[in-house]
Amino acid sequence: MRVEDFEEYEQINSALFDLIHQMDDSSQMKKILSHMYSSGGKKIRPLILMLSTELCGGDKNKSIDAALAIELIHSASLIHDDFLDGGIVRRGMPSVPEKYGIAAALLCGDYLISKAITLISPYGYEVVHQFGSAGMHMAEGETIDIKSVEHEFREKNYFECINKKTASLFASSAAIGAYIAGCSKDMALKLYAYGENVGIAYQIVDDLLEFIEELDDKKSTQESVTLPLIYSRAFGREEAIKRTVSEVHKFVGLAKELLNNFRPCAAREKLLLITDHITIDLLPQGT
Ligand code: FPP
Ligand code: MG
Repeated sequence: MRVEDFEEYEQINSALFDLIHQMDDSSQMKKILSHMYSSGGKKIRPLILMLSTELCGGDKNKSIDAALAIELIHSASLIHDDFLDGGIVRRGMPSVPEKYGIAAALLCGDYLISKAITLISPYGYEVVHQFGSAGMHMAEGETIDIKSVEHEFREKNYFECINKKTASLFASSAAIGAYIAGCSKDMALKLYAYGENVGIAYQIVDDLLEFIEELDDKKSTQESVTLPLIYSRAFGREEAIKRTVSEVHKFVGLAKELLNNFRPCAAREKLLLITDHITIDLLPQGT
């Protein structure tokens, strides 16, 4: 089964379509969002949220608004990231700052964050708190990223950076899914850790693909210091790729192990499939 065939994927896409469709045609934001979402996107974070609700025995339909909020804040972060690191191509299309300019891009990010707040606010304290802290971590992580070229940037700094800028949203998505199902704090924390490990593995793969120049659907003008780069400075290119791939396998293994705390079911199978889909399945052949 492919991720695009999951019924949850269809539900997220249709909720997103409805959201944009309901906006006034004269809205500038509608134009920008239509451009942004016409290029697709994997919808991994909202999928993790909905599947986590199901995994914990909850009703996935109750998590759709939260899933949408997660996708919107993720989109806002990509728009802001493209502004910050000079991203000119995103998902094979001109990025929002490139196409609409910096002012419109910043305002679109503001709009998306605000819309996300309206969607998440009806949920309980745990969910809203988790959502807010993910946003704070992402911003913190991005500041570490943009400073990575200015100072000595070691493995430890890299992991702190990607944990905050990327893994925090994966982790919060999974925990929010658990809270919506009414799960215990202990299980929510296990799902948080699952999301964290997948998010770390995902960002390492993304950085590896950029390092070996295998990403043709996005392009940035400014580079960050990444794990393969840190390893290549110390051990040379070939060894760097080997060590980076081994880190990916390590975090994927940890993520999957955490899912063993949950009963076998369709949602768990789908989460396992997603885990590989955005990590190991993307590794270059022969690595
Ligand atoms: C992509 O990194 C960027 C992120 C994972 C996070 C960006 C976060 C912010 C700009 C903070 C925003 C905060 C809120 C609350 C909206 P990358 O440049 O390595 O990946 P890329 O290759 O996809 O651009
Ligand atoms: Mg970027």
